Amino acid sequence: MNQPKQPYTFPDSFTWGVATSSFQIEGATFEDGRGASIWDTFCAKQGTIADASNGEIACDHYHRWSEDLDLIKSLEVNAYRFSIAWPRILPKGFGQVESKGLDFYERLVDGLLERNIDPWVTLYHWDLPQALQDQGGWVSRDVVEHFVDYTRIVCERLGDRVAGWITHNEPWCASVLGYLNGEHAPGIKDNYAHLASSHHLLLSHGKAVPVIREIVGDRPVGITLNLVPSVPASSSEADAEANARFDGFFNRWYLDPLAGRGYPQDMIERYKAENYIDDWSFIQDQDLKEISQPIDFLGINYYSRGIIRSDRVDESENLPVEVIANSNPTDMGWEVYPQGIYDLLTRVHQDYDFKSIYITENGAAYATGPDEHGVVHDQLRESYLHDHLIACHHARQAGVPLDGYFAWSLMDNFEWAFGYEKRFGIVYVDYETQQRIPKQSALWYRNVAKTGEISC
Ligand code: FCB
Repeated sequence: MNQPKQPYTFPDSFTWGVATSSFQIEGATFEDGRGASIWDTFCAKQGTIADASNGEIACDHYHRWSEDLDLIKSLEVNAYRFSIAWPRILPKGFGQVESKGLDFYERLVDGLLERNIDPWVTLYHWDLPQALQDQGGWVSRDVVEHFVDYTRIVCERLGDRVAGWITHNEPWCASVLGYLNGEHAPGIKDNYAHLASSHHLLLSHGKAVPVIREIVGDRPVGITLNLVPSVPASSSEADAEANARFDGFFNRWYLDPLAGRGYPQDMIERYKAENYIDDWSFIQDQDLKEISQPIDFLGINYYSRGIIRSDRVDESENLPVEVIANSNPTDMGWEVYPQGIYDLLTRVHQDYDFKSIYITENGAAYATGPDEHGVVHDQLRESYLHDHLIACHHARQAGVPLDGYFAWSLMDNFEWAFGYEKRFGIVYVDYETQQRIPKQSALWYRNVAKTGEISC
């Protein structure tokens, strides 16, 4: 007789969460004294957002937060990762504090705690106050101290109740998409802006970490990177070089300085050989030391791998190499490749040895909507989550200190330059009525979060 297969079991201490970010769900962009963010400005420009939408209403979470917390509770997860909108707290980026903004997040945090859900806060998920962008945004060094001041204000109000702190979400996206290829706010396309903004993002992280620690005590503090495990498309030397460059540009440029190794030398040499920029003075003495403040965990967002080849097909992309999406892509055109999360976790663990790792985002966009009975059969998303979680389990077995997993996303939302056309939620949102419908994947995930087990 066949033995029943054992389920994949995670420890009781494992964090099971869902994630969102402020601009993608809140709406109410000009309520209660919130200042404009770079995303409000960017959305107002023609041709920036695929469906010409904006964040003015989004999921109306600013008004529906209480029922959304009930929804999260119904999913039986033990953690919720959300971000704070800097311009709700400091409408001009610094100076005058808007207490109504702090009150909103305080209600959210208290509401989570009442429901026994750990609040995980991301301080920066891309909605920079427009007033700071008017002074240069992340390209200007002044923003670093403004970020630290903002951090202090938030920690002083919420620090006694928040379970985990993430300084930045994906500095690669903020600097590359925002300041190099202009696909994201503030829509700048400039090599110097790319490297200076990434440096200031990292520096602001390093300077904020001790401030958070001083206020919040022993709660974990970290940063979230989006990382892409990559392979060359062929055995040619040119593809191997393109792959090394991609890894340096995408992964090591952020991992190395955080781990205390400075910027990767091979990338500095490449940039210098190409005269990518001619002024490096934005990197000052002590900066790299500050960036490498020890962190309690590394947050990793994983969606897909990259298959890298040397020929740049689309010059307008302004990326150094071409990334090919392989078979069975999601609605984003990203290959479904669960082995990649295992490869990435084991590699980051071996090469960098962070104390603890959390997957702070993982998920897939599929447009599946409700059928005539109102049921959302998103089988592809369920398989995506299932297969990636099993790969996470394998990584734990291989010794990776993976302590938690947050599904992206709690609900369908504003997917940046794609607007509302890409649906990543495990909960469906009807944008006309704002009705939320848990998809089949949410019901499946609920069972995993509740039992800590995945059946084979
Ligand atoms: C990540 C972002 C998140 C969401 C997902 C799909 O890069 O952090 O806000 O857009 O991608």
